[in-house]
Amino acid sequence: MTRTHVPVLAAELIDLTAPAAGETAVDCTFGAGGHARLIADRLGPAGTLVCIDRDPSAQDRFDELAGEVACETRFLRMDYADGLSLLRDEDVAADLVYLDLGVSSMQVDARERGFSYSYDAPLDMRMDPGQTLDARTIVNGWEERRLAQLFRRYGEDPNAGRIAREIVKRRRRTPIDTTGELVAAIEAALPAAVRRSFGGSHPAKRIFQAVRIAVNAELDSLDRALPLAWDLLRDDGRLAAISFHSLEDRRVKRFLAERARGCVCPPDFPVCVCGREPEAELLTGRAVAPTPGEVADNPRAKSGRLRAARKLPLGDAR
Ligand SMILES: C[S@@+](CC[C@H](N)C(=O)[O-])C[C@H]1O[C@@H](n2cnc3c(N)ncnc32)[C@H](O)[C@@H]1O
Repeated sequence: MTRTHVPVLAAELIDLTAPAAGETAVDCTFGAGGHARLIADRLGPAGTLVCIDRDPSAQDRFDELAGEVACETRFLRMDYADGLSLLRDEDVAADLVYLDLGVSSMQVDARERGFSYSYDAPLDMRMDPGQTLDARTIVNGWEERRLAQLFRRYGEDPNAGRIAREIVKRRRRTPIDTTGELVAAIEAALPAAVRRSFGGSHPAKRIFQAVRIAVNAELDSLDRALPLAWDLLRDDGRLAAISFHSLEDRRVKRFLAERARGCVCPPDFPVCVCGREPEAELLTGRAVAPTPGEVADNPRAKSGRLRAARKLPLGDAR
């Protein structure tokens, strides 16, 4: 069954970014529109909400929301980095840009889309079914070394090498066409003692994450989007991102910290000669995690981490 998506860290997002009546907000990852609906309510009839999602199935949910909220709305069905770049070219200025990264519950629960190791389905994992690259192409086409690198970098899996080897051995006999066949290859690559060491976590979890990130070029989109989102903001505008694994969170953290950094002169300089001033005020010192209550209600929120910053008007930091 395809459940709808429960927005993660929604109250915290609203509290930190304080969307106000008449403002313009950009939701880079519309999904089921859970966050969008809450934000739209704050923007009111004089506000504007631009929603982006590259999954065509988000369009119907957007149309429904657009008919129910008072603010002006617009939908861009594309990669959010491309959407932000389009908005920049149109000279749109935003008061709030936010991203809620990764996949939605609708995507994970739609078995036929092959995102989940829990169901046997064709190896697909495309958020945008119109793109050519899918999980099957990667699993059957990439050479062993590249697969191992992918599992290591994007899955942070210590068993990357042996899993890549097993996949290549199996696919020589017959292509790995389904999520079930990929799970079987992963399990076969791991001796029982290693499998036991995963505790409650499924041994395929990290590998599926890695393949999904590669299929959807998720980190490339995020790297392209953050500076575009920042440039789109007006003075006092807020940028917020909810990440679900350390690869994303690290990028967001570094990006915001870099903007919040002032003088970069060596500490032994008596006076500042670099003249560098912070562009951002961090609204979150540490990343904000969901409360135990939220995780109990929605276990998928567990790894969510929210970071946000405000764009300082020029000359305001000092
Ligand atoms: C976690 S869900 C967002 C859920 C949403 N905040 C809500 O409350 O319903 C992520 C959504 O972002 C979309 N998405 C992920 N990466 C994207 C990208 N690079 N460009 C556009 N959409 C993307 C996915 O298709 C998915 O619908």
